[in-house]
Amino acid sequence: MFAPRQVFGTFQRRGFSASARQASKVAVLGAAGGIGQPLSLLLKLNPRVTQLALYDIRGGPGVAADISHVNTKSTVSGYDPTPSGLREALKGSELVLIPAGVPRKPGMTRDDLFNTNASIVRDLAKAAAEASPDANILIISNPVNSTVPITAEVFKAAGVYNPRRLFGVTTLDVVRASRFLSQVKNTDPANENVPVVGGHSGVTIVPLLSQSNGADLSGQTYEDYVKRVQFGGDEVVKAKDGAGSATLSMAMAGARFAESLLKASQGVKGVIEPTFVDSPLYKDQGVDYFASNVELGPNGVEKIYPVGKVTEHEQKLIDTCLVDLKKNIQKGVDFVKQNP
Ligand code: NAI
Repeated sequence: MFAPRQVFGTFQRRGFSASARQASKVAVLGAAGGIGQPLSLLLKLNPRVTQLALYDIRGGPGVAADISHVNTKSTVSGYDPTPSGLREALKGSELVLIPAGVPRKPGMTRDDLFNTNASIVRDLAKAAAEASPDANILIISNPVNSTVPITAEVFKAAGVYNPRRLFGVTTLDVVRASRFLSQVKNTDPANENVPVVGGHSGVTIVPLLSQSNGADLSGQTYEDYVKRVQFGGDEVVKAKDGAGSATLSMAMAGARFAESLLKASQGVKGVIEPTFVDSPLYKDQGVDYFASNVELGPNGVEKIYPVGKVTEHEQKLIDTCLVDLKKNIQKGVDFVKQNP
């Protein structure tokens, strides 16, 4: 029988009649990476997480040993990079976060990562479809616009696809949108809430300033703001100068989204996060996945909100977004068809 290479902390009692609500196992695939490490640390600090399973093709047990010394109650396990290690990491997970894959270097778009990351996500999705078909799957690996459809196709092929449980994590766009607006307006970002819809790359990222405190931004200030939200990731890629893309802010965003899902699954009502999901909003235009405000619940997606009232200019941004998004989604679907 397979045992994790190292289990740290106290074992959970078996046969304990606590519902899944009280026992939340969270798996991170790609846990030793730039995002994976701080994300795992933040999850260790989350009292809703009772068991943390850390998997990577290298370094998972080391990161687990390190994080396990943090004095919160949850157990931490690191797994060897073997099929059985991956299976054990996934088994029984309520949430599976996937930040595995390569990040961008200067000059690259997220789509340039497709060739490498598509097969990584496909293979991890296959393992998840088998070992944790009922988990909420949170895709961080880029290009999210394509890796989410890849995961959906893999789950469909395995006969276990549940559109309510698959999420592309676009929280960082929302975090940036509020932070950047606070910088323009010299306000506290905690009070700035800008809905961001569409997808997660360049022009597919559409901040809806008209639905926020930034409704009065105009002219060049407005243009610069929208561009900064759409291409904010490039600032980090450039500043890191070849050493990767956003990791720390992404970890915070990923941990926030995970907390929202756990909160909702534990019965808290009215938890709303923008996220990239299988969405009815633009299916009539051939776009099967779209990010908008989503109410989360015990079954994952509870309600998908439409984009609401937008300005003429925002509508143009959405139209531009849909053109690219459709291609990105199709690319993911085709990849799985051609490389099952
Ligand atoms: P990184 O290179 O620092 O870490 C990636 C980790 O994945 C490495 O530890 C690597 O060993 C691991 N890995 C590779 N193949 C694996 C596999 N088959 N199974 C398990 N682990 C595997 O990269 P970083 O900076 O952590 O970025 C990860 C991904 O997240 C990239 O694709 C990046 O583009 C994306 N990203 C997404 C954002 C979002 O808003 N959704 C924001 C920033 C980055």
